[in-house]
Amino acid sequence: MEHVLLTEQRYVPLEKIKSMHRQALENPEKFWGEMAKCVEWDKSWDVVLEWDPPFARWYVGGLLNICYNCVDRHINGNNRNKAALIWEGENGTSRTLTFYELYREVNKFASVLLNLGVEKGDRVAIYMPMIPQAVISMLACTRIGAIHTVVFSGFSAEALEDRINDSRAKVVITSDIMYRRGKRISLKSTVDRAVRECPSVNYVVVVKRGHDSEDIRMVNDRDYFWDELMSGASRYVEPERVESTHPSFILYTSGTTGKPKGVVHSTGGYLVYATKTMEWTWGINPRDVFWCTADIGWITGHTYVVYGPLSLGTTTVIYEGAPDYPSPDRFWDIIEKHGITVFYTAPTAIRMLMKYGSEWVKKHDISTLRLLGTVGEPMNPEAWKWYYEVIGDKRCPVCDCYWQTETGGHLIYPPVGVQLLPLKPGSVTFPGIGIDADIVDEQSNSLPPNKKGLLVVRNPWPGMLMTLWNDEERYKAYWSRVPGTYCTMDYAIKDEDGYIWILGRADEVLNVAGHRIGTAEIEHVLVAHPAVSEAAVVGKQDEIKGETPVAFVVLKEGYAPTEELKSGLIHHVKATMGPIATPSILFVVESLPKTRSGKIMRRVLKAVASGKEPGDITTIEDEGSIEEIERAYEEFKGKL
Ligand code: WTA
Repeated sequence: MEHVLLTEQRYVPLEKIKSMHRQALENPEKFWGEMAKCVEWDKSWDVVLEWDPPFARWYVGGLLNICYNCVDRHINGNNRNKAALIWEGENGTSRTLTFYELYREVNKFASVLLNLGVEKGDRVAIYMPMIPQAVISMLACTRIGAIHTVVFSGFSAEALEDRINDSRAKVVITSDIMYRRGKRISLKSTVDRAVRECPSVNYVVVVKRGHDSEDIRMVNDRDYFWDELMSGASRYVEPERVESTHPSFILYTSGTTGKPKGVVHSTGGYLVYATKTMEWTWGINPRDVFWCTADIGWITGHTYVVYGPLSLGTTTVIYEGAPDYPSPDRFWDIIEKHGITVFYTAPTAIRMLMKYGSEWVKKHDISTLRLLGTVGEPMNPEAWKWYYEVIGDKRCPVCDCYWQTETGGHLIYPPVGVQLLPLKPGSVTFPGIGIDADIVDEQSNSLPPNKKGLLVVRNPWPGMLMTLWNDEERYKAYWSRVPGTYCTMDYAIKDEDGYIWILGRADEVLNVAGHRIGTAEIEHVLVAHPAVSEAAVVGKQDEIKGETPVAFVVLKEGYAPTEELKSGLIHHVKATMGPIATPSILFVVESLPKTRSGKIMRRVLKAVASGKEPGDITTIEDEGSIEEIERAYEEFKGKL
């Protein structure tokens, strides 16, 4: 594999990282106690770590407030008038909020929430586009100790309803509409449909993003416009000092069953890990303008759009629209306009923009960039090279960061902020500082170089999830899959130099354009349709999105496999779950290939979906012998 050595001077030994890593593993309490000084505590902790596997409690006894750390502490210092948040609208309008302005808005909105009866520990759902009020809402929640649950604005009413009901949110914050590629999408009407069956919701707060909000249907005594509430709000709300182990937020993510998992993050451990990984990955300096393109609906939008940058007093940029709207140079235009120095995006976006060609990049001066990042999916070397050469002008290291909703922050990544390593395109490099990661077999034995296995972590770290909301039993599964370790459920290999390469999920979770989608969730939606008796969904490789869902359905008696029904089923998934879960192909079949014990042979379906032989498909499921699978494959293919 090709090494990319960024100029000789910058090619440095790994001693500094190694020694930090060693200290963290040898004496985690001392190391992480020292690290926790990156944030301000109202009361110091009594114990750095209480480890009662699989439950970890960090900085026990400590009191702090996330919002105070992200906002107030900066207005007391030199950053008072520095840009905290730069918002770029889809249509090119932008708005900058200094730390002081952000402080004022957050305080007022925290007062609004208190006036609506939200108390410490209550849940608040946020279903919003990428506008400043979304960030203000998140910070206002943490200011009063309320637990936010952000739901991606591309999710459907049903998905929103499930999340609101699972978390029993009292308030939903949304906007009248959002813009997507010039189109107006009504979010408020989706919320209306969602909350019909949500008894916990007392209020809906609506930001006016459109100009003609008079048309919006507001429900008396339940719905209020943001601006109206803000005009009557107090100017200051004392930040609630919460316990380090108080949940800061719940973020739902997909697993292998039809029910999404509510990942619960802590306050102290999460903030320390977000802040330190922000520093270690990007080596943030006061002049940086940091742009992470993730939506706040995902963990990347929590840790590296909001909490990590703001905790460090870094200017963070948010963009409302699509990467290629109104033209394919929208990203490069934004980098030039705001002088972005660190740019962090997903391989899907790179692959898409690469297709439009380098001419679109050349139209802009993007020389302010010093560092590039990617996250969410394996990065193919071709896209890596384009990113490095065309966007980074062969000057900017490309940091491929591996992590998960559950891990709170980067897990395997090049710590450029500490020391620059020689990079290898497609590898996520080494386990992060303090992360005892390994590639193992099912019995937790370390595997030799270049042998594929499960990526696990052997020790707790401050950013790890505390539990799953309402589902402690399911949480325990993370630590019992491979005995004594946190199992990521990703396959990986370590090469002879110790570099880690992520190979993709080892379970039935898809990665569509960097978004996690459980195949079981899509199957669940399909079988809820009156025409469907059985359904199976698998992933198919896609040049741009990495993977797309492919559905196989068996119809009930009396239904004919017409084109109309097929597109109706695809539409049904789109309407129920949202566009990202929409199958790219749907096959109607007489029966699904099954083992003698009745398990669906997913390997057969994957082979059919991707035009490969079943022997080329990797799986950890025990589905019978390969001969049996091949026979089933031939038979199944013959009937399609
Ligand atoms: C995948 C996103 C390869 C992986 C932060 C993981 C990656 C899942 C990378 C988590 C990467 C994330 N290279 N694969 N750099 N980063 N993944 O929870 O399969 O939305 O388990 O968190 O994305 O997705 P999640």
